[in-house]
Amino acid sequence: MPTVTSPEQLFEHELKDIYYAEQTLTKVLPKLAEEASDGELSRAFTSHLRQTEKHVTNLEKVFTKIGKRAQATPCPGIEGIKKEHDEFVQENTTSAKMLDAFLTGAAARAEHYEIAAYTGLVSQARALGERDAVVLLQENLKQEKEALKKVETISKRLLKDASNGTSSKARSSRTRSRSTARS
Ligand SMILES: [Fe+2]
Ligand SMILES: [Fe+2]
Repeated sequence: MPTVTSPEQLFEHELKDIYYAEQTLTKVLPKLAEEASDGELSRAFTSHLRQTEKHVTNLEKVFTKIGKRAQATPCPGIEGIKKEHDEFVQENTTSAKMLDAFLTGAAARAEHYEIAAYTGLVSQARALGERDAVVLLQENLKQEKEALKKVETISKRLLKDASNGTSSKARSSRTRSRSTARS
C-alpha cells in the first residue's frame, strides 16, 4: 500500500488519478462522437479528443518535471461517470435528440470532474513551487473549462430545439459535413 504523508506524495497520487481519467477519456470520446447525431456536438467531442490527447502528454511532462515515472491509478470517479452513460444507453430506448441531450450532460459531468481535479492540482503544484507543472496543469484546466462551456451552449440549443419540436437544421448540417468528408 503506498504511503501518503507529504504534499509531494499527495500531488503524485492526484496526478496518477487524473492521468488514468484522461487516458480513459481518450477511449470514450470517439464513441461519444459516434453516438451523437447532432453535427456540432459530434465535432465538439472530436475536437476535445485532440485536446485530451494533449492533456495526457502534458501530464507526462509534469511527471518528468517532478522526477517520477508516468503511472496511472484507477480512478473510480471517471469510471462512475462512464458507467452512468453506459447504463443509460443500454437500458433506454432513446430518440436521437434525447440521446444527444443526455450526452451533453454526461460530458458536462466529466468536465466538472476534470475541472475539480486540475483546480486542486494547480494549487498543490503552486504550493510545492513546481512552476513548470503549474503552467502545464493550467493549460489543461483552461481547456476543460472551455469544453464545459461549449457543451453547455450546445445543450441549451438542443433542449430549445427539442421543445420547439425541431432540430433539423443541426442534423442537416451534419449530413452535409459527412458527405463532404466522403467526397
Ligand atoms: Fe482533459
Ligand atoms: Fe475534458
